[in-house]
Amino acid sequence: MNYNMTSFYAFVLLVLFLSSLNLVFSSKHRKLSYVGDNGDLVTNLPGQPPVDFQHYAGYVTVNETNGRALFYWFFEAMTKPEEKPLVLWLNGGPGCSSVGYGATQEIGPFLVDTDGKGIKFNNFSWNKEANMLFLESPIGVGFSYSNTTSEYAQLGDDFTANDAYTFLHNWFIKYPSYRTREFYIAGESYAGKYVPELAELIIDRNNNPSLHIDLKGILLGNPETSYAEDWLGMVDYAWSHAVISDETYKKIRRSCEFNSSDPWKNKECTQGVDEVLKQYNEIDIYSLYTSVCFASTARSNDQSMKMTMKHSSLMIPRIMGGYDPCLDDYAKAFYNKPDVQKALHASDGHNLRNWSICNNDIFTGWKQSKPSVIPIYKKLISVGLRIWLYSGDTDGRVPVLSTRYSLSILDLPITKQWSPWYHEKEVSGWYQEYEGLTFATFRGAGHAVPCFKPSNSLAFFTSFLLGESPPSTR
Ligand SMILES: *[C@@H]1O[C@H](CO)[C@@H](O)[C@H](O)[C@H]1NC(C)=O
Ligand SMILES: *[C@@H]1O[C@H](CO)[C@@H](O)[C@H](O)[C@H]1NC(C)=O
Ligand SMILES: *[C@@H]1O[C@H](CO)[C@@H](O)[C@H](O)[C@H]1NC(C)=O
Ligand SMILES: *[C@@H]1O[C@H](CO)[C@@H](O)[C@H](O)[C@H]1NC(C)=O
Ligand SMILES: *[C@@H]1O[C@H](CO)[C@@H](O)[C@H](O)[C@H]1NC(C)=O
Repeated sequence: MNYNMTSFYAFVLLVLFLSSLNLVFSSKHRKLSYVGDNGDLVTNLPGQPPVDFQHYAGYVTVNETNGRALFYWFFEAMTKPEEKPLVLWLNGGPGCSSVGYGATQEIGPFLVDTDGKGIKFNNFSWNKEANMLFLESPIGVGFSYSNTTSEYAQLGDDFTANDAYTFLHNWFIKYPSYRTREFYIAGESYAGKYVPELAELIIDRNNNPSLHIDLKGILLGNPETSYAEDWLGMVDYAWSHAVISDETYKKIRRSCEFNSSDPWKNKECTQGVDEVLKQYNEIDIYSLYTSVCFASTARSNDQSMKMTMKHSSLMIPRIMGGYDPCLDDYAKAFYNKPDVQKALHASDGHNLRNWSICNNDIFTGWKQSKPSVIPIYKKLISVGLRIWLYSGDTDGRVPVLSTRYSLSILDLPITKQWSPWYHEKEVSGWYQEYEGLTFATFRGAGHAVPCFKPSNSLAFFTSFLLGESPPSTR
């Protein structure tokens, strides 16, 4: 071998050595994931800040015959996703999007920016502590759809729970490493119905070992729970927070039988409740002490933004709002951008889907709703599920009083008396522990608690996952 050949081989060896170093280096710095690209990996979301975790978005078919598909966005935990639990988050409405609210206004790692063009990093994202799965449920919400459009008129609680259940199993086929993971379900508002209903379905079907899902607990924020208690709480709260007069209040208390199947057949009751809604249309019912959205001219013409009351139903009327009530508009602008839809695998970027944050037709057409999920709570407590309820105490829509009235019906033995819990040396709220259930308030927070108290919410979520009381010293 001559000198040239030797140096050539030395050079080849050096190149091999360097490239193996580089391999070691890049695998060490590669984003942590063992899912890989299953086709739903999001790689080019416009305006996305650089992050060290993977996220996935797309459709999961829940019924092939009728062509139903639910849209999800999944964020792996920021660190060690393989060691962290899986948490499903649901928003309510019914008809509102968990992607538009939960993922990009409340607890996801990317929040929609106020220009409607981009997103910004959320330092208090819940995927610091868990793998977070956001589902647009049922069909007709956000990007979720059915090719059998007549199904939109058949939606109700049971339909929703069944499709969400099927979704989970089909999602696990795409994400087998999460199949046996510790699992939690969280949500707010009307998800106060969805979450216990889905949990019950899981518990029932878990009798079949091949369908077993390792459900450990549920977490509920300002949850709708029971018509009668929710209505009474809403009225009492409006009166005690100076939204309605003594006269209106007395009229309602005198005439409304919220426990009856049709309280609205009493004219006096209907008039009184209409007066409550009229006053709430002047402010943000979801956050009594913050301003309403003036920015959008489109909004003032949008009837879906007004409180709508169906005198045929006990469902509590819906109007929208939030900490920055204009955020709904930014979200709409963002999710209707072709490049965003393409990046999230919601459309091909040409035949766009028409995304809106809430679908009012779903709300008004809702066919079936459980009057109360309190019996389901009893069942979930009896199987030892961890159940935590929290309540932002400036929400007028599902106010803290409503939740307390439902808890008083549950009548659980108290294991830890009402006491403050702390965050960053301040009283963040109060909490009380019962056998099988923990209840906590967030002082000064509206309906969508994490919008108002992001840091406190993340700390609270961490306590929930650990199964430890919220911090009870300053
Ligand atoms: C699909 O949905 C329809 C309508 O809800 C239902 O009748 C049918 O049983 C479903 N098919 C499957 C395989 O679940
Ligand atoms: C709905 O119909 C479209 C167009 O035919 C098809 O591409 C899509 O796969 C269908 N969706 C489902 C869930 O079957
Ligand atoms: C993000 O939060 C961490 C603590 O979780 C903190 O150390 C860091 O300074 C925060 N970053 C920003 C930009 O607020
Ligand atoms: C509804 O009925 C239950 C059971 O009788 C009762 O405990 C509860 O107080 C009633 N709620 C309202 C708001 O009247
Ligand atoms: C999207 O929906 C809105 C209202 O829901 C409607 O006015 C608009 O025409 C729809 N756009 C498309 C492209 O379907």
